[in-house]
Amino acid sequence: MLKADLVGVGVIGTGRAGLVHCTNFAENVPNARLISVCDADKKNAEKTAMQFNVKAYNKAEEFLNDPALDAVVIATPTFTHAEMVKQAAEAGKAILCEKPLASTEAEAAAMGKAVEKNGVCFVMGFMRRFDKNFIRANEIIRRGDIGEPLMIKSTGKGPGLPPPWNLDISKSNGMLAEVNSHDFDCVRFLTGENYRWVFATARNNKCLQFAKEYPDFYDTAIVTFGLTGKVMGTIDGACPADYGYDARVEIQGTDGVLMIGSIAKKGVVIGLKEAGVIEEMVDSWRTLFKEAYLAEDRTLIECLINGTTPPSSLEDGWKALQAVLAANRSIKNGAVEKI
Ligand SMILES: NC(=O)c1ccc[n+]([C@@H]2O[C@H](COP(=O)([O-])OP(=O)(O)OC[C@H]3O[C@@H](n4cnc5c(N)ncnc54)[C@H](O)[C@@H]3O)[C@@H](O)[C@H]2O)c1
Repeated sequence: MLKADLVGVGVIGTGRAGLVHCTNFAENVPNARLISVCDADKKNAEKTAMQFNVKAYNKAEEFLNDPALDAVVIATPTFTHAEMVKQAAEAGKAILCEKPLASTEAEAAAMGKAVEKNGVCFVMGFMRRFDKNFIRANEIIRRGDIGEPLMIKSTGKGPGLPPPWNLDISKSNGMLAEVNSHDFDCVRFLTGENYRWVFATARNNKCLQFAKEYPDFYDTAIVTFGLTGKVMGTIDGACPADYGYDARVEIQGTDGVLMIGSIAKKGVVIGLKEAGVIEEMVDSWRTLFKEAYLAEDRTLIECLINGTTPPSSLEDGWKALQAVLAANRSIKNGAVEKI
């Protein structure tokens, strides 16, 4: 627990996700303030530091060495998370690590050891666990309103191409890690069960320009799975989906069904003589989960100040990673993979 009034926060990795956290900590997180950013690309670091009027670093060791820094958000490419978390934990900083947790289970185990040994707060960046609709759905299921959960379908599709470091699946674990980690986690969150087996199939439908250099790259995937209890289900993913950001879940129980999410951006409906009724689409994860990212960032500070337990843990990141790795193995060998 921290005694200081204002928690000093730094963000490492000032790309797409990093900027969301910078904006939150610069303006909207009580008892905290953004004091620094770090990016291996010096220009990125300096540009972001100027935007938020904070210190810029381009080396993690120097960034972490600042005694005014209490908490860090790790928003660098996934294959760097293990080293970043280890360094941040050893420096005694509270950590919010973006999903996916890591690239391999060995990395996840090392991260878990470093966090435990140094006794630092750790929040896993599964923002759906901080989203009011997902939280409400979880409460309704726990209350037993839809009876016993039997089947779950989770759709996760991104509008555009992921950053270039995602193309090499041996480094990134592909779309199932980058986009669908959220689906793999929310299945566990909503059912309270773990994965028992997965079977997955995937194809590159729309990104043939990458096929030669990255023959394993896929932009469309379907995963079927069985959980440790009665529930079975599917996860489907596509990136780029082009039409918008699509995150919908359906859970069928013995007494009813529950649906989360919509592709329509609520509030604006346009009626045109020729085109008929037009609704605006959800355009990005940034807008759909804006409040959830903020709640996630606030949780990091509450954990540090009050010692509260975050709803999204390192173990949750590890379990989702296990399922992603098994699904990728299944795509490769065409067989069911046990977990
Ligand atoms: N929770 C979400 O919904 C969500 C959304 C997008 C991305 N993410 C995750 O956030 C992480 C970053 O993804 P992104 O899309 O922002 O990537 P990005 O490529 O847009 O940005 C990554 C940044 O990290 C910097 N960087 C790379 N290696 C570094 C190092 N060793 N030290 C310091 N800086 C380094 C790069 O220069 C770049 O500016 C990934 O793990 C991704 O899966 C999560």
